Amino acid sequence: MNKNSKSFLFRMEKNTLKPMDSEQLREYGHQMVDFIADYYKSIESFSVLSQVKPGYLRELLPDAAPKHPESLQDVLNDVQQKIIPGVTHWQSPDYFAYYPSNSSTAGFLGEMLSAGFNIVGFSWVTSPAATELEVIVLDWLAKILKLPNEFLSSGQGGGVIQGTASEAILVVLLAARDKVLRKIGRNSLEKLVVYASDQTHSALQKACQIAGIYPENFRVLKADSSTNYALIPYQLHEAIINDLSSGFIPFFLCATVGTTSSAAVDPLSDLGKIAKANDIWFHVDAAYAGSACICPEYRHHIDGIEEATSFGMNAHKWLLTNFDCSLLWVKDRSALIQSLSTNPEFLKNKASQENTVVDFKDWQIPLGRRFRSLKLWMVLRLYGVENLQSYIRNHIKLAEQFMQLITSDPRFEVVAPRTFSLVCFRLVPPEGDQDNGYKLNYNLLDAVNTSGKIFISHTVLSGKFILRFAVGAPLTEESHVKAAWKVLQDQATILLRE
Ligand SMILES: Cc1ncc(COP(=O)(O)O)c(C=O)c1O
Repeated sequence: MNKNSKSFLFRMEKNTLKPMDSEQLREYGHQMVDFIADYYKSIESFSVLSQVKPGYLRELLPDAAPKHPESLQDVLNDVQQKIIPGVTHWQSPDYFAYYPSNSSTAGFLGEMLSAGFNIVGFSWVTSPAATELEVIVLDWLAKILKLPNEFLSSGQGGGVIQGTASEAILVVLLAARDKVLRKIGRNSLEKLVVYASDQTHSALQKACQIAGIYPENFRVLKADSSTNYALIPYQLHEAIINDLSSGFIPFFLCATVGTTSSAAVDPLSDLGKIAKANDIWFHVDAAYAGSACICPEYRHHIDGIEEATSFGMNAHKWLLTNFDCSLLWVKDRSALIQSLSTNPEFLKNKASQENTVVDFKDWQIPLGRRFRSLKLWMVLRLYGVENLQSYIRNHIKLAEQFMQLITSDPRFEVVAPRTFSLVCFRLVPPEGDQDNGYKLNYNLLDAVNTSGKIFISHTVLSGKFILRFAVGAPLTEESHVKAAWKVLQDQATILLRE
């Protein structure tokens, strides 16, 4: 038993547990910051993808919670020995899977401050600063992204921080559903139709399930290599005409800028015009690629955003803001509020009753909400827009370099155009290969990931098993990309020899 545990025990004996003692917070907080800083210092020594087997932790931890206090040092020792082996290191510079989920010192400090205040800012009155900072920071970012003025809080619209892009999609779908049902009657739910491409994130399907959209009314339009996996406006147009002639009611379209599989960009302008002509809510999901649009040279990917009803991007993916921080803007906040607002007696207060404030509880699913704007504010202030732009550009440059490495080795091929920092590629299968390289690339994926040296992920495009290399972890440098390429080449050599 060390000094810390003694002091804890001592307090307990006197029945004086002080869970928020500021001196203890100072001491333990410093210890924890040191622990985390050391973790980052040694992050490259860990297997990027955790190699533990399911259930590993049950064998390492006791069956029941401790009756008496333990020391922080004992807990940290367990973190080191038992928890870290079961962590997949998303912040490792050798992490190239899915899309990134950034952390940064600024984001971390913001999280810390948010945990420090630990407010629950559902209504303005529950912490005016939380609501007002969120409104201001979302306006800042809307301006950085050059979103149309209708998305700013000064008009009928505004921005809000959701936990995830999935929640953002769900709340706008609910708002759109209720808006149309208010017009045509609540018993018309079965006629409502949603449109998206087959490259749209599964979050939309989940949102439809929750919103009660009839599964057969979810039109999944096929996108293929002829448009680099972007949704074809004509197909949307045709589908709408068909639905209208059959008595259905088109009401929601979701386009994506930077699809999850291959970072495809749907043509917003043309799609938006069709949506507008048919009075359809048009949501643009730029969960990953939205961050790139803070750079003037990539902003054109959201040209046409003027036509959108709502727009979402995850600052927690690629904008150095620790998870969770998903940004959603709407042009008409009243649609959200009409769908999601409740007004129980126990939450009534003067400011809300007078209608002079924003109550973000009415823009989201849960009641409670964290002070998440702090971390985005800290990121914007401590780094500044120019540094954030350079950060994005550097990752895109690294992805370009990775693509050049692939094209220099005839055993590999790039399978979709690179637009942002994602490279889709595969090992070319030998001629006559039975499954067109499916197993070969599956095995390559498995081999590199179980090596622990890098972590990449996969997708299937046009029936082909594709490897995805997404640059975007904050610590990744050119040397990591080159080392990752060597891992891939070496494993490919072994596989092709077998
Ligand atoms: C385009 C896109 N939309 C939505 C999502 C879902 O994001 P979240 O985990 O924030 O719900 C993702 C996740 O990668 C994505 O790539």
